[in-house]
Amino acid sequence: MSDLKNLKKRFLSKLEDNLSLENINEIKTELFGKGGLISSQFKNLSSITESERKKFASELNQVKDELQSLITYKINQIESKKINEKLKKEKIDVTLPERPFIGGKIHPVSQTIDEISSIFSEIGFSVEEGPDVENEYNNFTALNTPDNHPARDMHDTFYLDEKKEILLRTHTSPVQIRTMLKDKPPFKIIAPGRTYRSDSDQTHSPMFHQVEGLHIDKNINMGHLKGCLNYFIKEFFELEKIKMRFRPSHFPFTEPSAEVDIGYEIKNGKIIIGEGDQWLEILGCGMVHPNVLKNVKVDSTKFQGYAFGIGIDRLAMLKYGINDLRSFFDCNYRWLNHFGFDPLDVPTNYRGLSR
Ligand code: PHE
Repeated sequence: MSDLKNLKKRFLSKLEDNLSLENINEIKTELFGKGGLISSQFKNLSSITESERKKFASELNQVKDELQSLITYKINQIESKKINEKLKKEKIDVTLPERPFIGGKIHPVSQTIDEISSIFSEIGFSVEEGPDVENEYNNFTALNTPDNHPARDMHDTFYLDEKKEILLRTHTSPVQIRTMLKDKPPFKIIAPGRTYRSDSDQTHSPMFHQVEGLHIDKNINMGHLKGCLNYFIKEFFELEKIKMRFRPSHFPFTEPSAEVDIGYEIKNGKIIIGEGDQWLEILGCGMVHPNVLKNVKVDSTKFQGYAFGIGIDRLAMLKYGINDLRSFFDCNYRWLNHFGFDPLDVPTNYRGLSR
């Protein structure tokens, strides 16, 4: 038997033994490492006579391939055995209790904004937005607010520059201006959002929410305003009938202007909306002043309409029985868990607005 055949036989039987990964790697080096038993045979090829070289080389290659593939096979076998053992040990125990899951809640103010948008969208209003940081023109001047108006005072308004040109909007009414400047009438929009005033106590927070309403078209009158607000209030509080009154008031940007109160009473320490002989102010409104229309280049001999501004936080407090406005904004998780809404509780008019 040739040396090569001997070598092959010896190693094939060696590899049959129960070997560890290290043993196999040692054999691999012994055969194929630098100066290994097979590697060195290749170096010897040049010293063999040409006639024998071909035969020897082919035999050598064959032995090399056979041993090499057996070694690879053995290594794979050991490794997959190791993986299988590991997998067996790491089996998932589906009977184990799960980790505690803390689900988020929708803030009552966000929920209320969704409810309001849903009600107004049913009667043809679309939603507009404006920035919290406004310029003095949109917030006051374009809204026919004179220079000496108390709302312009530092006591009321957060100015962001010395010249009092940039400020945090004190109401959502500048969105009326933005909307009318960028489009042509008719307009039928609401604009919910954050507003800011230098004011803080149990019923006032320096940041609060309003929703603006604006409806401009041919032949819009105060009757439309009353009808629209009456419809909204009933839908929002989910009541068939609600006591409501329009009290004359003043806003520079509407003429005539009114504030709207709803009736309520306290029964067993609980507030009951819609009846009783107490009144609660919830919004300001009126017919848009011709000067405002002039400022946004709407022809007031052809178009007119109404606007309103509703305090969202107060509506949310009334509907959901929350009595401190400040609790809305102190980021207390337990509070949110109690008063918040499930993420899939999306308000729709036909399915019921709230739980
Ligand atoms: N912007 C007024 C306020 O903040 C409310 C309002 C809006 C009044 C639109 C009339 C018309 O008090």
